[in-house]
Amino acid sequence: MNYTFAQYQESAEYIRSKIGDFTPKAAMVLGSGLGFMGDVVKDPIVVPYREIPHFKASTAPGHKGQLVFGYLEDKPVAVMQGRMHHYEGYSYEEVSYAVRVLRLLGADTLIVTNAAGCVRTDWKAGDLMLITDHIKMFSESPLRGENLPEFGVRFPDASKLYTPALQDLAREAAGELGIQLREGVYFYCYGPQYETPAEVRAVRILGGDAVGMSTAPEVIVAGHCGMQVLGFTLLSNMAAGILDQPLSEQEVLDAAEACKDKFSRLVLACLKKL
Ligand code: HPA
Repeated sequence: MNYTFAQYQESAEYIRSKIGDFTPKAAMVLGSGLGFMGDVVKDPIVVPYREIPHFKASTAPGHKGQLVFGYLEDKPVAVMQGRMHHYEGYSYEEVSYAVRVLRLLGADTLIVTNAAGCVRTDWKAGDLMLITDHIKMFSESPLRGENLPEFGVRFPDASKLYTPALQDLAREAAGELGIQLREGVYFYCYGPQYETPAEVRAVRILGGDAVGMSTAPEVIVAGHCGMQVLGFTLLSNMAAGILDQPLSEQEVLDAAEACKDKFSRLVLACLKKL
């Protein structure tokens, strides 16, 4: 099914009735274990997904399922506490629905964060990676179906989805904070099962540095509707087959917990520079 422009507008109008004339500059999608950043938003107005017409609930652990409008580093933001994933049973269009709604509410920048497996054997779990590009070519596009020209063109350019100027800003912020920031390509996989070791080897050959189950759909939609994008990955674990141990969700959540201070300082420093 395809949403109509009117449906996006209905969602935006409902939220508008809650937030008045507040205009978010940046929309933020917080990944596994990083949702706490929504709790430190100043002057928050919380809108649960389930109240918003046409929104879906997010069911993944550690994902609260609400939008928080308010200020971080004195910047007006809309924080998605909890994202939708394709593996939960949602279409890519549903997964990225909120991005378009936040665009209608005035956000011109999307900041995405996620936890992902580290494909590079010369990096380690707990490292942070600036996403410079992604690979999502083996699954359908969130833009599949009738194009909505109110948002963008039928065949959008994707050569600079992750905005170069925002990447520079992130490098600068990391340097100032003394945080080591890796840079690389995020390879999208469906999930929910983690990859097989053979799949991880394939990802490496194809040019992926991190492997995860989110982010790329939202970024494609953000690029389509003209938003600037900044993306970060917490490399929460070595990808399958690199270490002789099974992968678990607990490992991902523990890594997110252990790195949340470093991660949030970096994201906040970037916001400040926007
Ligand atoms: N693979 C896919 N998604 C993930 C991983 C992983 O190793 N870690 C956290 N999210």
